[in-house]
Amino acid sequence: MESLTLKSHLPPDFLADALRADVSAGLTGSPKSLPPKWFYDERGSILFEQITRLEEYYPTRAEREILVARAAEVAALTGAVTLVELGSGSGDKTRLLIEALRAAGTLRTYVPMDVSPSALLESGRLLVRDHPGLVVNAVMADFEHQLGVLPVGERRLTAFLGGTVGNLEPGPRAVFLADLRASTAPGDWLLLGTDLVKDPAVLVPAYDDRKGITARFNKNVLDVVNRELRADFDRDAFEHVALWDPEAEWIEMRLRSTRDQKVRVDGLDLVVPFSAGEEMRTEVSAKFRPDGIRAELAAAGFAVRGSWTDEAGRFLVTLSEAR
Ligand code: AVJ
Repeated sequence: MESLTLKSHLPPDFLADALRADVSAGLTGSPKSLPPKWFYDERGSILFEQITRLEEYYPTRAEREILVARAAEVAALTGAVTLVELGSGSGDKTRLLIEALRAAGTLRTYVPMDVSPSALLESGRLLVRDHPGLVVNAVMADFEHQLGVLPVGERRLTAFLGGTVGNLEPGPRAVFLADLRASTAPGDWLLLGTDLVKDPAVLVPAYDDRKGITARFNKNVLDVVNRELRADFDRDAFEHVALWDPEAEWIEMRLRSTRDQKVRVDGLDLVVPFSAGEEMRTEVSAKFRPDGIRAELAAAGFAVRGSWTDEAGRFLVTLSEAR
């Protein structure tokens, strides 16, 4: 039996069409915005990998610390036969889960879901090489809208790590969690990674590092729009902004126009005016409180069975069961 398969559930022009729709809505809205999912072309993914190694960016290390300490417990509690991972990317923290579930003897199938076929194939190849007998069924799909394409496996554990759920604002997040619950059976499991509310003096530098890698990551979205939609954004005419919103309890990244300017987006037949100082939102990254997570999960139909932070209490990994 083939131990690595890749199946696309994306309509042929999905990426192009979704980008057009998002950019068109975002640049004609007020205030202007661009959704964070468009950061991650090849260069953006490399920049994000660099971010995860920055001194100021603690979430990746904190979550890894939790998984190192708790993967065996997650394996014992869930006895998962199928592991689904949403937005798997390079999938390197997943390795810890896969190894624990293999050691416990339950895991048969790993289903990574991502829009990037290269990330899926690269990590899939390494995993089947290192785990004889493991079946990897990679799925190209948009996890926010296509949870229905997931296979209904036996005793399923869905992992959504990295704090990416924080990119969704509360309304869409509630819809997403409810969709996720609807796509699984009672008794299935969800492992969710979330960054926690903390001192803005720690949070803000994590999104505005001294080396300026996050600024480059933020501006990369302009290059993506330039390339894909024949726009003429000038990277040097925008400044990286990261701020903490204490009411919403999220970090917001923006790009601030340094001058009055008009940007052409030929692919959309659009000319977009920016005034000096005007800010365009490119990401929200919500930070959570343990009680809030519990309540959001409960509202979606998940009951918390375990939750763990790193030693410094910066990040939370929550295991919950579909009721
Ligand atoms: C990958 C969405 C979890 O919000 O912290 C890193 C992305 N943005 N630096 C985050 C990101 C700026 C990251 N997530």
